[in-house]
Amino acid sequence: MKSTPLTKNTIPNHVAVIMDGNGRWAKKKGKYRVFGHKNGVQSVRETIEAAAEIGVKVLTLFAFSTENWSRPKKEVDTLMSLLATSLKKELKSLQDNDIQLRAIGDLKNLPTKAQKELNEVILKTSTNTRMILNLALSYGSRVEIVNAVKSISKKVVNNELKIENIDEKTINNHLYTFSLPDVDFLIRTSGEKRISNFLLWQIAYAELYFTSTLWPDFKKEDFFNAIKVYQQRERRYGKTSEQIQTNE
Ligand code: IPE
Ligand code: IPE
Ligand code: MG
Repeated sequence: MKSTPLTKNTIPNHVAVIMDGNGRWAKKKGKYRVFGHKNGVQSVRETIEAAAEIGVKVLTLFAFSTENWSRPKKEVDTLMSLLATSLKKELKSLQDNDIQLRAIGDLKNLPTKAQKELNEVILKTSTNTRMILNLALSYGSRVEIVNAVKSISKKVVNNELKIENIDEKTINNHLYTFSLPDVDFLIRTSGEKRISNFLLWQIAYAELYFTSTLWPDFKKEDFFNAIKVYQQRERRYGKTSEQIQTNE
């Protein structure tokens, strides 16, 4: 594949990752699904490091969906305690690497302990500037859009906003991701080729990348390989290739 001069060596500003395949990874090894989740933590670490190293500004990781609450209680409980302990453990490394933690989703549904750890790390890293690590927890894109519609409607009813002034920016400003740039690059591991209710609005013009690698096997090198593929893409936004190449 030939790359164009404009897109070559471009680092995506905002990378989002659907970290999938922990259960299948464990099953292949004859273990319980939670063994896969535990081993997925190292991949999270490596992905964060790799993204920060190359200058990604925002990394959004899909860690738990609104739909994942329907999994067996034991698995949900393990995931939640894994979240709390990992947050505690990773605080130092986030500080050392100047990474700011944020979270999107229906966070009030998380167990108290997880919420507490989350809020603590968010607060302690809030002045870090190298990269934003944005965790999607109890996150569902449709719920996010429904909530945005509700807040916008409220403003219209209260005469704080005129219907004719509602535009794309208005919608954007009412999403959990209001302060973040659009997603440039979406990675999904495990071979599934679907979005699973993740950032539907925000990926409107993102480049999509699907790899069959299962999440616990996804390491730094795999992230860099994905970025290399991104750099071969030509983002045309509806224009022609010629327009892009001459910067018209
Ligand atoms: C991703 O791995 C982690 C979460 C969704 C929490 P899965 O647990 O979905 O693993 P598979 O897809 O069943 O292999
Ligand atoms: C998507 O993975 C959610 C996360 C990675 C947190 P799932 O495994 O839940 O998605 P489906 O059910 O296969 O679409
Ligand atoms: Mg899955």
